[in-house]
Amino acid sequence: MADTPAGHGLLAGKVGVISGALDPNSIAWALAEAAHREGARFVLTNAPVASRFGQLDELAEKTGGSPIVYADATNDDDLDALFAEAKEHLGGPLDFVVHSIGMGLNVRKGKPYEGLKYEWYLKTLDISAVSLHRMVRAALDGDAMKDGGSVLAMSFIGAQRIFSEYSEMGDAKALLESIVRSLGYRLGRRGIRINAVSQSPTRTTAGGGIGGFDTLFDFAEKVAPLGNADAASCADYCVTLLSDYARMVTMQTLYHDGGFSAMGISDALVEQMGGTVGEDS
Ligand code: NAI
Repeated sequence: MADTPAGHGLLAGKVGVISGALDPNSIAWALAEAAHREGARFVLTNAPVASRFGQLDELAEKTGGSPIVYADATNDDDLDALFAEAKEHLGGPLDFVVHSIGMGLNVRKGKPYEGLKYEWYLKTLDISAVSLHRMVRAALDGDAMKDGGSVLAMSFIGAQRIFSEYSEMGDAKALLESIVRSLGYRLGRRGIRINAVSQSPTRTTAGGGIGGFDTLFDFAEKVAPLGNADAASCADYCVTLLSDYARMVTMQTLYHDGGFSAMGISDALVEQMGGTVGEDS
């Protein structure tokens, strides 16, 4: 993996909200560090429960004293308050909003897809997908979004293809990506863009909650020509999408996966399965 680049001021003068940083493994943690490096100021947010076991204070300090506003992304009152406070802290409406939130309740509790508990399933969809709609709605209602701003959400290729243990989260990501398109059309009238970044398997708290994660990680590593993309490289890519250089990109699912999504089978996988590469069978 190439080294992390030095800052280039790609986000100089920009202000935003970054959700989902729980600990240093979180994708949003790396994204906050990269956005800070590129000159952005932002409010950090996470679910109130994360204040008990998360490490957001440390990240706030590392990123120049970023304010923290706790908000449950499934609670509209919390979100209204989040954007009102963010505007106050940052001195006006936002240039960007990052949604990096996900949780699969049935997955966590080991319920198979055929036997989903629907109450948990709906909660999974709310936390992992509908919350993106809720966040954008709250930002718009609170006049908290600048024209020409950028909204970003994190997705996984389980939205398009079946990864057996990903289960209900595949449905959540499919909904998330659909919300990106539906909102993108409406937000485009104000020059605001919205995209999903479909990221490689990454060792985080949410990632580790998926059954067979290590196998999925190794499989993707063997298939992707560049190998799995880590959180730091994802953060660098996300920074470009928040910058003005991506001002005409919207409604997309953008793969940040070392080439995994364009592959079928690789030599490394053939060999792992006992096959021989480069010979007629
Ligand atoms: P993470 O566990 O560090 O982040 C998930 C975050 O969601 C946590 O900070 C958690 O507190 C927050 N959250 C959960 N419920 C919430 C609620 N009700 N309100 C507000 N925040 C809430 O894990 P990771 O991997 O950094 O996840 C970030 C995003 O990246 C998620 O959307 C995840 O699905 C996505 N993603 C992760 C991949 C992986 O392999 N780790 C691969 C592709 C996408």
